[in-house]
Amino acid sequence: MLLHVPEVLTRGQVADLRGRLDAADWVDGRATVGAQGAQVKRNRQLDEFAPVGQELGRVVLKALLANPLYMSAALPLRHMPPLFNRYEGGEHYGPHVDGAIRSVPGTTLQMRTDLSCTLFLAGPDEYDGGELEIVDTYGTHAVKLPAGDLVLYPSSSLHRVHPVTRGARVASFFWVQSLVRDTARRQMLFELDQNIQALREQVGDVEAVLGLTGQYHNLVRMWSEL
Ligand code: NI
Repeated sequence: MLLHVPEVLTRGQVADLRGRLDAADWVDGRATVGAQGAQVKRNRQLDEFAPVGQELGRVVLKALLANPLYMSAALPLRHMPPLFNRYEGGEHYGPHVDGAIRSVPGTTLQMRTDLSCTLFLAGPDEYDGGELEIVDTYGTHAVKLPAGDLVLYPSSSLHRVHPVTRGARVASFFWVQSLVRDTARRQMLFELDQNIQALREQVGDVEAVLGLTGQYHNLVRMWSEL
């Protein structure tokens, strides 16, 4: 499943983040990648221990945790602290898959990467190229979203970022370990939840809606790993 989550950040939040990111120091993006990725990754990132990045990462996480669509789709157990990247002057990231297990920086914790997220912080009119191309079971999708919007996709997907040929593509990216490891189960829970919410809008909390809500939670109980 590839999901577009609109307006995770407000315009004001995007402007604030961009002001601080544009003034920050950027390092070679190969600092956080394994051997396969290092061969194809050409971009820059904020150092993962840079205080400004950690502070802005907390802003991103707070917004995500308050976003019902994101929470319904991701069912997050753990988040990798968000990182920030920048592509310009032909920079790109060739085809790769994200590593299955990552160490959480500054801790001894490891997490499984079930979902990958990119939160766009530059508008599509600010740069040429830079599409995030994701291959899933339904084909290849080129994603380029408004600033403040997020795309969520299974970390098992082959993906790439096309060269940025004008302007700068600025984004936040991070990984999620979901309560529900299996993509198909997570997708079913998401669709069930969305349909229950739509039904509740139409008919209110009638007995059948409460029953379906109970079934949803029982499935989460059955399938979640804590
Ligand atoms: Ni990647």
